[in-house]
Amino acid sequence: MADNRPWPQAGRIRMIARSPLGNIGTPEAADDHHLLSMMDAKHVFMMGDNPALPRMPEKPTLIDFFKYRFNDIAVSHLLGSAKRAMDAGHSDNVVMACLLHDISNGCLIRPDHGYWGAQLVAPYVAEEVAWAVKYHQSLRYFADESVDYTYPESYHRFFGPDYVVPEYLRRDAAIARKHKWYMTARLVTLYDVYFFEEMAPIAPEYFTDLIARNFRQPAEGLGHDDSPSSHMWRTMIWPNNFL
Ligand SMILES: [Fe+2]
Ligand SMILES: [Fe+2]
Repeated sequence: MADNRPWPQAGRIRMIARSPLGNIGTPEAADDHHLLSMMDAKHVFMMGDNPALPRMPEKPTLIDFFKYRFNDIAVSHLLGSAKRAMDAGHSDNVVMACLLHDISNGCLIRPDHGYWGAQLVAPYVAEEVAWAVKYHQSLRYFADESVDYTYPESYHRFFGPDYVVPEYLRRDAAIARKHKWYMTARLVTLYDVYFFEEMAPIAPEYFTDLIARNFRQPAEGLGHDDSPSSHMWRTMIWPNNFL
């Protein structure tokens, strides 16, 4: 069906003031003073759909975010992790947790991605799934010989061999270990490997049935309902909004 929705702020130059979080501490740190000084009848700050991005449907679903917003590394990583867990015969909750575990890295926030991701999905999934998304982050750093999980070789390369795991992750891993859902989060860490070099590409639709059973899609569309995390989905729909 043709999309006849008009583009917002027609006829003006739409300036993008990047979110502080993505720029602070880097040479690209945003110069908001400069942008503010450029405001005039012709120059406005961007609000609403950005033509540089695929346009989201009016009632976005989880799969729409995989298709139109998440970066390709996150997409293949999440789909590959979930497929491996599904092929191994794990429960829906385990496969869903694998499918969603790094969702925050897809288009939102990298630091503490497990914690952000858990809050993002919590209103829509089983409590066990959101719990596993939260705790996979801390458990990634700690071995569990009972399932042949060792500290990731990739982390030595990501962070250097002398990286020291901060106290809050030690604390949360210890909490997770005593929890009844420990093994759900632990299985996420087991399937938390980059598979895309060895796997055929997977379309997100491969998980349509799993998602229908385990993700409470809001009738208004993600980002347009009034759940506690709706604003986080909306931020991914309109990541360049000024306010
Ligand atoms: Fe992760
Ligand atoms: Fe991961």
